[in-house]
Amino acid sequence: MTATRRIYLDHGATSWPKAPGVADAMVRYLEEEAGNPGRGGHRLTVAASRAVESAREDVAALFGSEPERTLLGSGATFWLNTVLLTQLNPGDRVVTSALEHNAVVRSLRWLERSRGVEIAIVQGADPDGLPTADEFRREAFARPTALVVVTHASNVTGAVFPVTEIAEAVAPIPVVVDGAQTAGSLPVRFSELCVAAYACSGHKGLLGPQGVGVLLLDEGFEVEPLVRGGTGSRSESEEMPEHLPDRLEAGTPNGPGIAGLGAACRWLAERGVGAVAEHEHRLVRRLAGRLGEIAGVRLHGWRPDRPHTGILSFTVEWGDNGELATLLDREHGIMLRPGLHCAPAAHRRLGTFPDGTARVGIGPFTTEADVDALVGAVRQFSVFSF
Ligand SMILES: Cc1ncc(COP(=O)(O)O)c(C=O)c1O
Repeated sequence: MTATRRIYLDHGATSWPKAPGVADAMVRYLEEEAGNPGRGGHRLTVAASRAVESAREDVAALFGSEPERTLLGSGATFWLNTVLLTQLNPGDRVVTSALEHNAVVRSLRWLERSRGVEIAIVQGADPDGLPTADEFRREAFARPTALVVVTHASNVTGAVFPVTEIAEAVAPIPVVVDGAQTAGSLPVRFSELCVAAYACSGHKGLLGPQGVGVLLLDEGFEVEPLVRGGTGSRSESEEMPEHLPDRLEAGTPNGPGIAGLGAACRWLAERGVGAVAEHEHRLVRRLAGRLGEIAGVRLHGWRPDRPHTGILSFTVEWGDNGELATLLDREHGIMLRPGLHCAPAAHRRLGTFPDGTARVGIGPFTTEADVDALVGAVRQFSVFSF
């Protein structure tokens, strides 16, 4: 019989439920504000422009970034592609970690194949692939390097990378951070990160809808548009405008999505990202402690003494993680994600390729009872096997 309860533990893939106020903001936009933002002067266009610009301010306030250097687009993937594909030229060298998501890996592999970009991967001495700033420094200065791109936290293990130390160690080489797993889950003040760019999703820790994402750019780090087209501004010119954010935001924006993201950021600011991070960390510790006690369960990349997001990966020696996830959903209503998590390189580094792991993603609305239900279900499967 299929379980009717829903315990959502897949926040690494996308958040659910969304922050209170997100759906209302999206409905309000669609019903009352949905002109084309920045295109023309009638009242619905003005209302749409206001909604988009006020959401931009909400996002910027959460990160302490400059609103005009807070770019809104379709997601972390789009913004990472924008930066990598426009910054890396034929023959350039880029340094990255062994735990990157395909948003970075596939972009770099394409650049390697089509432009001869050299990719240097910091494997790291750590058994879980977490690199040190010093390892990055050595690799970055081994040969002339144009760019460093690194994740802020692994979407497979949840380990948080020392991105600020890395940026200081490789200066003046610009560092681009994939913040898909940290935005909204760890307090991030952009200027204190000391990096050139930070790209993130709107639909994960930021608790907004899918189809929106954010790029934060440091003063002086200029990125070319990946996509060119209408912006509603400087329409007399056949070239993209010089000013931000318009230069990097061609085409009609995802107005309802952006309105939803603004509402999500307001909710997060009120709740406090620090409080969310504490909540997720407390639950991930509880989960790791209890899951780790079950015979035949192996945790991957978990170290209680290290900074960690609400992600935890595990495997069970008595079964396949895909089958485990299916049974957890069907019999216990528990949703998590098995497999490779769009990060095959990370699984290779961790020794969990090609089967991957079962990945738990804890969010701000996850409770102790949710975590204990997962532990109970895994313990039950471990006794009876499957
Ligand atoms: C580490 C990491 N980078 C990038 C992405 C892609 O994010 P988006 O869905 O916003 O394109 C994800 C999402 O799975 C991720 O976990």
